[in-house]
Amino acid sequence: MNLEEKTRAALQAHFPATTPPRIFSAPGRVNLIGEHTDYNDGFVLPAAIDYRTVVAAVPRTDAIVEVFAVDMDDADTFDLEKPILPSAGHLWANYVRGMAKMLLEAGFSLRGASLAIAGNIPPGAGLSSSAALEMALGHAFLQLNGLPVDGVQLARAGQLAENDFVGVQCGIMDQFISALGQKNHALLIDCRDLSFEPIPIPADTAIIIVDSGVKRGLVDSAYNARREQCNAAAELFGVPALRDVTPDLFAARADNLPPLLKRRARHVITENARTVRAAAALKQGDMATVGTLLNESHISMRDDFEITVPEIDTLVEIIQAVPGVYGARMTGGGFGGCCVALAPNAVATAVAEAVENVYTGKTCCYHATVYRCHASAGAGEIVVQSAS
Ligand code: GLA
Repeated sequence: MNLEEKTRAALQAHFPATTPPRIFSAPGRVNLIGEHTDYNDGFVLPAAIDYRTVVAAVPRTDAIVEVFAVDMDDADTFDLEKPILPSAGHLWANYVRGMAKMLLEAGFSLRGASLAIAGNIPPGAGLSSSAALEMALGHAFLQLNGLPVDGVQLARAGQLAENDFVGVQCGIMDQFISALGQKNHALLIDCRDLSFEPIPIPADTAIIIVDSGVKRGLVDSAYNARREQCNAAAELFGVPALRDVTPDLFAARADNLPPLLKRRARHVITENARTVRAAAALKQGDMATVGTLLNESHISMRDDFEITVPEIDTLVEIIQAVPGVYGARMTGGGFGGCCVALAPNAVATAVAEAVENVYTGKTCCYHATVYRCHASAGAGEIVVQSAS
């Protein structure tokens, strides 16, 4: 059963309705480069992927939202006309409640709905299953009420749901790319003014994602700590955000910073520069340069930002050693999760074989999963063609 059929069947089983549901879908993402730069007003270069979250939805006439999560085999109900509070027992439901609350606070008038959710983005792997859930729900809530969807506004609402409701101080990258991704393109996003440029990914380049099998532990607290360290460093440089520290300013003042803050700042400042250069190189089809920048990004995350774990470092080394691979790095928030590699299509099988043959033995005894991904379009309604 595909995801559309799964959600449709679950909706019918749990909240039988007479009207056929509408189906909304949003992709996960892989970040090619630009890690922990988004909340520093910097640049990121993610692509939406062909793994996604799907929501089947029918409107209700009252203000009740009832929702069934197929993958959790769990349900939640809340009332849009009463204060919407986080649920202690159903953590997944906080994305639903948070999204509804932020859209109401943004001034949208919403009726209740019956919803069923299912997805195939591996959870806890750093591929933004939560952002995909938020964006699919956002489309469902707005479109069921006949309201227009603005991708940037929806991304902001999703980020606020994470920041103020779920309690993760994330930036806007994941929601933005899930809302606005484009088929066969990565987006170079300026996270300060939210302008973006689609950059084509050459057809003969494979995007390979490898899940290390290391579940991301203590992510939220470690993530929030990095964000605080970046803010503290920006303050010591006397600028609004680390985006504003030029190489000259860094050279002149960095030694006045405590060593840890200096390392954190150096990652963000050099990563911003690498991201802009990688986008330019990708545009030229200069994959050797893109690959070198990916490899340098990994070293910076490992040594300066300290967000990798030994198993991820091992995995990146295994992939980088495969002849023909352009480059590889950890992708996402860190502390486990996935690596991303770029390679010619013809080399993708060799990457999978190298990972399969070596990784488990070297890490005693994690198992990695390889996903071949394609850059995909952002969130929207899936319109079923009638067979007439
Ligand atoms: C997580 C956050 C993003 C971003 C990345 C790191 O995915 O949700 O906003 O900060 O980590 O680049």
